[in-house]
Amino acid sequence: MNAGPALEVRGLSIKFGDFTAVDDVSFSVKRGEIFGFLGANGAGKTTTIRMLCGLLLPTSGSATVGGLDFSDGGKGIKGKVGYMSQKFTLYNDLTVGENLDFAAGLRKLSPAYALRRRRELFDLIAFDSPLSTMVSSLPGGVKQELSLAAAMLHDPEIVFLDEPTAGVSPASRARFWALIRKVTELGKTVIVTTHYMDEAEQCGRIALMRTGKLIALGSPAELKGAAFPGPMVELDFNGPAPAAALGGLGKAAGLLELSPHGMRWHAAFRDRPAMEAALAALPPGASRAVIEPSLEDVFIRLVEGAER
Ligand SMILES: Nc1ncnc2c1ncn2[C@@H]1O[C@H](COP(=O)(O)OP(=O)(O)O)[C@@H](O)[C@H]1O
Ligand SMILES: [Mg+2]
Repeated sequence: MNAGPALEVRGLSIKFGDFTAVDDVSFSVKRGEIFGFLGANGAGKTTTIRMLCGLLLPTSGSATVGGLDFSDGGKGIKGKVGYMSQKFTLYNDLTVGENLDFAAGLRKLSPAYALRRRRELFDLIAFDSPLSTMVSSLPGGVKQELSLAAAMLHDPEIVFLDEPTAGVSPASRARFWALIRKVTELGKTVIVTTHYMDEAEQCGRIALMRTGKLIALGSPAELKGAAFPGPMVELDFNGPAPAAALGGLGKAAGLLELSPHGMRWHAAFRDRPAMEAALAALPPGASRAVIEPSLEDVFIRLVEGAER
């Protein structure tokens, strides 16, 4: 096995006609990492993943995936990666066994090898229903686990999971993330996209994308520290916030971000003195607590803030 990084991406771009869907993206991913892609719909996450799976060729830039590049048109890369796509996972009108046979056929795996891998993967995902079970009858979470198994049948070094938990129950999402951790414990590298901030918190590092560009890269703690160098306070006005209070706060010197979170507001400041001055001007009834920024705060500041 090659000892270099799992992924090395340099200036990767792709255009569809005049439209640049992925714009000069560079990053690298270490082996065994859980690397998350975050960004609004249309940010370019799926397109980036499809290039890194050898399914789309970039317009410019380069990448190595498991040590291989695009010089053979993506063929070598396809063998190194497993891809669980955002849209298609398994055929609902086929049985579990038929779906896995189909996946093995696509990869041209020998029957004996496919059988051995199927047993290993059923063990990994703790799947114990009969092979004759129709996929349509499986709960959503189990179906996603089985899709991951199908994507890993050929034992890829790197696994790309595009919104694997979209529409799945919270309990199943937690189960799926335990499975992701198990996969990395086997030495695999996992690249995953999600819209759930609690899931993003579980990534080793995160790449934040906006309109095709990579706008932030780091661990959850690094992203929070970079987006919010000063303190953040959560305000509770015990009901709708008075317009005058919000207006005053919005104009406070050193305010970095002011955003609603349910009935509460998060206000981030450049530094402590700026926070104290702004809080002193608030009506006395409002309760206030200094909090750690969440990834949702980071997302609001870097993605939604840039669109305002
Ligand atoms: N084959 C294509 N032709 C034209 N535009 C595309 C194509 N594939 C994706 N796009 C556009 O590229 C942008 C990024 O899409 P996508 O990578 O799917 O974003 P995300 O996965 O972050 O939601 C979107 O504006 C999408 O409409
Ligand atoms: Mg997508």
